[in-house]
Amino acid sequence: MNLNNILQINNYKIFIVFLVIIDKMLLPKFVNKPYIPPLSIQGTKTRILHWLLQNIYWKGHGTYYEPFLGSASVVLNIQPKKAILNDNNPHIIQFYRDIQQNKFTLLALKQYLLDCKQVLEKKGSDFYYEIRDQFNTSPSSFGLLFLNLTCWRNLMRFNAKGEFNAPFYQIKQSKKLSDQNRYLLNFNDVKGLYIIHYIERIKYFQQIIQSHDYIFSNEDFESILEMATDNNDFCYCDPPYILRNTQYYGNFTEKQFNSLIEWSRTTKCNFAISNWYSDKNNINPYITHFNHCHIKQTPFHYQIGIGKKHARNYSDLSVNECLILSSNAYYQNNLSVNKNTLNFLLKKNNI
Ligand SMILES: C[S@@+](CC[C@H](N)C(=O)[O-])C[C@H]1O[C@@H](n2cnc3c(N)ncnc32)[C@H](O)[C@@H]1O
Repeated sequence: MNLNNILQINNYKIFIVFLVIIDKMLLPKFVNKPYIPPLSIQGTKTRILHWLLQNIYWKGHGTYYEPFLGSASVVLNIQPKKAILNDNNPHIIQFYRDIQQNKFTLLALKQYLLDCKQVLEKKGSDFYYEIRDQFNTSPSSFGLLFLNLTCWRNLMRFNAKGEFNAPFYQIKQSKKLSDQNRYLLNFNDVKGLYIIHYIERIKYFQQIIQSHDYIFSNEDFESILEMATDNNDFCYCDPPYILRNTQYYGNFTEKQFNSLIEWSRTTKCNFAISNWYSDKNNINPYITHFNHCHIKQTPFHYQIGIGKKHARNYSDLSVNECLILSSNAYYQNNLSVNKNTLNFLLKKNNI
């Protein structure tokens, strides 16, 4: 056996040991094909999950906290044993609780979605607005799901009065085909495969949230941060992008973002915070406040629920997404930008 062979075998052994060690930790995790959650929410991390979960270190002991849960795509793909999952939007939290507590059967849900398809075919957008009005006077999980599947860009958008306000979505098609709504396009597949897959998706989600110790909470994020203090715990924060006027349920203010920064300076908990790092014109000025953290970046194209005129200087939807990591949640690999590089970049850009 020559020296090359010996080296190759040793490299192979080192690789196996590396895999065994990784396997014992919950994060980093290598996600080939992410599980897709039932609700679609702007700002979802589904498309960059593989990047996100490869860059975080957490043993998985202690409690997982997610104060800005949204679609739940992140927790669904990590699957920690114990979690507090929070969002200030009462409707999505009620939807998750209903699924967890078997408040409806999947058969009933399937029938509802098929019935909606028939009426939507006949009445078009009138039916959408009927359901929207109904939902805004008497909210229900079925109504929320229908609106989410049918509205413009699948937005989860509410006005200042707390009313769902995303409009109907009519997709422009080629000259030969008449315009269709996305809901009908999806549900009209010949073999009915879309609905089968969709119900399977909810079934999987239900299995996960029923077989783990997960609590759904509907509070402001600050009360969740108060709980996330232990050095065994991990907290993943994905707040609305600061300074980009994204709309969800109520506003997310600069004052609130500052309280998140303050918490990150004092907590012992492992944490990762997502936000935008830069776009082609700007660097996010808030990033300087995280000079006690490690920062990683990746290109990301995100969706917003507002017209371009409100986006002002920040209207470009292609950004560099960043992951801001506490020292104890930092997992080193080649995609990182460390503190020194960050300081250099900020100095260079006079920030
Ligand atoms: C960027 S989205 C989270 C996306 C999520 N990571 C995903 O993959 O779907 C931000 C979420 O924060 C919620 N949110 C906004 N302000 C909040 C607040 N003050 N407290 C708690 N949640 C809030 C919104 O309702 C929204 O679901």
